[in-house]
Amino acid sequence: MTFARILGTGSHLPGNPVSNDDLVARGIDTSDAWIIERTGIRFRHFAAAGEQASDLAVPAARAALAAAGKHVDDLDLIIVATSTPDWVFPSTACIVQDKLGNRGAAAFDVQAVCSGFVYGVTIAEKFMRSGSHRCALVVGTEIFSRILDWQDRTTCVLFGDGAGAVVLASSDAPGVLASDLHADGSYRHILSTPGQICGGSVVGSPYLQMDGQAVFKLAVKVLGESAQSTLDRAGLRVDELDWLIPHQANIRILQATAKRLGLPMERLVTTVGHHGNTSAASVPLALDLAIRDGRVRSGHHVLLQGVGGGFTWGSILLRM
Ligand code: UT7
Repeated sequence: MTFARILGTGSHLPGNPVSNDDLVARGIDTSDAWIIERTGIRFRHFAAAGEQASDLAVPAARAALAAAGKHVDDLDLIIVATSTPDWVFPSTACIVQDKLGNRGAAAFDVQAVCSGFVYGVTIAEKFMRSGSHRCALVVGTEIFSRILDWQDRTTCVLFGDGAGAVVLASSDAPGVLASDLHADGSYRHILSTPGQICGGSVVGSPYLQMDGQAVFKLAVKVLGESAQSTLDRAGLRVDELDWLIPHQANIRILQATAKRLGLPMERLVTTVGHHGNTSAASVPLALDLAIRDGRVRSGHHVLLQGVGGGFTWGSILLRM
C-alpha cells in the first residue's frame, strides 16, 4: 500500500507586521481593544504593491523543498490553493511552477477559499495513494488585502497576506491517516467576493463581504463535527491528538472549537494574533511555525482543519 507523508514545510510573510494601531492611524474607525477582544488579532502582514500570490508562494515552496530534502525537479504535482490568484488564467500553480524552475509536473489551482489548503493536501494524498504521482508541492497563498473594502471596518481588520507550503511524498508508512471534505453552496452569500470580470470591467463587487456572526456559528459547528468524524475514521480518541491546527480566523472560534472537543487550548497552534486571517495560507503557516519551533515533532498526531467561503470545510489527520 502506498501512503502520503509530509516531508517538509515552509512559509513566507510579506513586509513588516502591521499593528491594530497602524490601521487606526490609516483612518479606519476601529481600536486595538475592539480587535483584540473580538478576534485576538494584534498584527497582520500586507504584500507590497506589485507583489503577487505566486511571489509569496515561491519562497514558502523553496523552504518546504529544502526542509524535505527534495529538488524542484522531484516534483510531479503542484497544487496551489488561493482565492486571490495572480491572473484569471493560467493558474497560479503554473506561474509558481515556472518561477520555481520545474517543467512537466501537473499543476493546477484549488479554489475552496479558507479550506483550500486542506482540500489541496487531500487531493495530493489521493494522487499519491493511486500511485500516479510520487512527490507533491501544496501551497496556500493569499493576498486578501487586495479584495478588502477599507471602508468596511467589520471585515478589513480581520485579514492578512501570506503563504505556507508543504512537500508530500509517497511512502510505505501512513502520514495522512484520514481526511474529511465538505461543502454547502447554499451558504455562499455569508462569505463571498461576488464579482466577475466582464467586457473589461468588474461586474458585481470586487470586495470581500461577510455576515460575521453567521460565519462564526457555522464555523464552530462544522469544525467540531469534522474533527470528530475524522478522528473516528482513524480510530483515534481526542486525547490521543497532540496538536489541533485549525484555520486561523478568530481566537474565539478556536476557543469554541477546542471547548466543543474537550481539548485544552495548550494543544492548539494559534497564529491568528500575529498573522490575522490569511485564508488558504493560515493552516500551512501555522504548521510550519510549530514544526520549526519544535512543538510539532515526528510521531505526533496533528489535525489540520479548514473552514470558509463556499461554505467549505474539512480536516486532515496526520502522523508526522
Ligand atoms: O475564514 C473565515 C472568515 N471569517 C470569520 O471567521 C469571521 C467570523 N466572525 C467573526 O469573527 C465575528 O463575527 C467578527 C469579528 C467579524 C465580529 O465580531 P462580533 O462579536 O460578531 O461583532 P458584531 O458584528 O456583533 O459587532 C459588534 C459591534 C457593532 O457595533 P454596535 O452595532 O453594537 O454598535 C459593530 O458595528 O462592533 C462594531 N464593530 C466594530 N467596532 C470597532 C464591527 N467591526 C468593528 C471594528 N472596530 N473593526
